[in-house]
Amino acid sequence: MAIVQGLALAAALIFAAATTSLTYAASVVTYVFGDSLTEVGNNKYLQYSLARSDYPCMNIPAQVLLWLTSFLPNFWDFEAAKLGIQSPPPYLSLSKNDDALLDGVNYASGGAGILNDTGLYFIQRLSFDDQIDCFNKTKEVIKTKIGDAATNKHVNEALYFIGIGSNDYVNNFLQPFLADGQQYTHDEFLELLISTLDQQLIRLYQLGARKAVFHGLGPLGCIPSQRVKSKKGICLKRVNEWALEFNSRAQKLLNTLNQRLPSAKFLFADTYGDVLDLINNPTAYGESELVEFIDGAVIFARVPLILPELQAKFKIIELVSSVRARCKTT
Ligand SMILES: *[C@@H]1O[C@H](CO)[C@@H](O)[C@H](O)[C@H]1NC(C)=O
Ligand SMILES: *[C@@H]1O[C@H](CO)[C@@H](O)[C@H](O)[C@H]1NC(C)=O
Repeated sequence: MAIVQGLALAAALIFAAATTSLTYAASVVTYVFGDSLTEVGNNKYLQYSLARSDYPCMNIPAQVLLWLTSFLPNFWDFEAAKLGIQSPPPYLSLSKNDDALLDGVNYASGGAGILNDTGLYFIQRLSFDDQIDCFNKTKEVIKTKIGDAATNKHVNEALYFIGIGSNDYVNNFLQPFLADGQQYTHDEFLELLISTLDQQLIRLYQLGARKAVFHGLGPLGCIPSQRVKSKKGICLKRVNEWALEFNSRAQKLLNTLNQRLPSAKFLFADTYGDVLDLINNPTAYGESELVEFIDGAVIFARVPLILPELQAKFKIIELVSSVRARCKTT
């Protein structure tokens, strides 16, 4: 922890030079749910998983960077500048009664989806429902430590980041050899995804989540496994349209939940356009240093120094430093 914070501070100072208006406040407790874009190492603990993301500099950077695109600060009653989010550790790295559970946990698992059968061929992964079960267990442990009332306050005040859905397309619906793509039309499949997500977000709410960011899909038609299906290797228009449809439905769902569930502030983070811009104009963001586009997110990890333009565009704050810290320590 001390090492990570030290590195984080060092990196924060680097960024302070470029963006003097940013300051860094005490950490906000975050609980993170999702797939390979958000995983920080849970699958390493799943003996048989074929979806491993615990490689240096993978995964969390992109998602977190994109999460920060301008949505958080306006919505909640604190400013981005004061948002000292740290990247919490993987759930499976913690012991059952770890005090660290109180400081935030990352449940994300590569290959995971909204649907249980998504990512089937990775053998082991924590589906979104599994991840919510894990959070439920976390809450039980926290109760034994600080009591019911303080636990409820704790989970109400935490921030919840959710980035899930890409695999339901890439490693399910778009795979011709899996049942879902044959069984359902896209309209039916989308209906299934949204109704399942509805139940899952309600479960999170029942467990105490009030302030959550749901990260929409990127242009999935532009990821390599989809592009190869076109003769010229270009983005698949139909798949991108599906991603946009999903985003639009997910956004509507969040709005409905906000009206239905008292005190719920579920926010949709739409980064589709920014990611597409990045794909279409990579040179605008630092030329060859950029970028790999995986599973619907852009991996910035190999960019040695994030350009000021990029900082402005993506409002990169503290998270970049945790990426750096991870790259240095692994
Ligand atoms: C996934 O499986 C669990 C346990 O078997 C079940 O409770 C849950 O409803 C399932 N979720 C989906 C999305 O099918
Ligand atoms: C949390 O776990 C408890 C105990 O297993 C169970 O009764 C409850 O339904 C779970 N809550 C949610 C929202 O899944």
